Amino acid sequence: MSLKLKLIGYPIKLSLSPWIQSSFLERSGVEGSYTLHEIPSKEIFGEEMKKLREAEINGFNITVPYKETIIPYLDKIDITAERVGAVNTVSLEGNKWVGYNTDGIGYVQALRDKFPDMDKDIDVPIIILGAGGAARGIFHGLVQAGYKNLTLANRTRSKCEDITNGTSASVITLEEAEKNIAAYNVIIQTSSVGMNEAKQIIDLSNIQEGTIVSDIVYQPLVTQFLKQAGEKGGRIHYGHTMLLYQAQKAFEIWTNKKVDVHGMDEEMIAKIKGEK
Ligand code: ATR
Repeated sequence: MSLKLKLIGYPIKLSLSPWIQSSFLERSGVEGSYTLHEIPSKEIFGEEMKKLREAEINGFNITVPYKETIIPYLDKIDITAERVGAVNTVSLEGNKWVGYNTDGIGYVQALRDKFPDMDKDIDVPIIILGAGGAARGIFHGLVQAGYKNLTLANRTRSKCEDITNGTSASVITLEEAEKNIAAYNVIIQTSSVGMNEAKQIIDLSNIQEGTIVSDIVYQPLVTQFLKQAGEKGGRIHYGHTMLLYQAQKAFEIWTNKKVDVHGMDEEMIAKIKGEK
């Protein structure tokens, strides 16, 4: 049987997901295809879902702007997707559509693969900057992985509280975060600040040497934030790996196979820089 997989969203023409998932199919020896399915407006979303049901595809990824729109069309969603309030992966199981969210757990896996010392220390102090959809996914990914010492900081405080509600995580202001940044061993930048601009959400002058600093922005790959972190002795982590690892988790849901992503990181960097 040949697997039929798709990416749904708009705009998605420049997405790296088809390249990633096609590489996974090849690497794992699974026969199938992963193609784009653009839905240019919300008005036709319902109709398109009906067509997809009829086409009996095995699974799909769903991206902006439909990660929440999809939920009422699903038969079931898993606990992480429910907590995050967004779905990025759908799998046909029996005749049911089941929704998952692999963004956060994928991201945590990317960090752990790069920094194995994170695996051993669930009490490591971690701060997340920003409180949008990406922060929500990453926060729940960290909670699910067992991390206990979590802090959120954002320009709009109430959005942090919405995310941390019911957990023991702390909420502080961006000013407090900047002042006390040396207290954190892992800093995760999830806001859009720094995307195609040389701006930083907070200054990193006071970080400790060896601090893990991650930025989910990957346009440019080396943001101003990561540049300063590197200059201050931080261990830096590029945002594009989130895309690779959420894809790895999605593929595992569809096929039960965990693909070795070795070497794909470098290829992705070349693609992002427009070299390939
Ligand atoms: P996504 O869903 O991709 O994470 P989002 O929901 O638009 O994106 O969230 C963007 C995040 O970047 C928010 O936390 C936003 O802060 P607010 O909640 O206060 O709006 C943050 N952000 C964007 N521009 C910012 C800026 N100039 N300074 C500080 N934070 C900013």
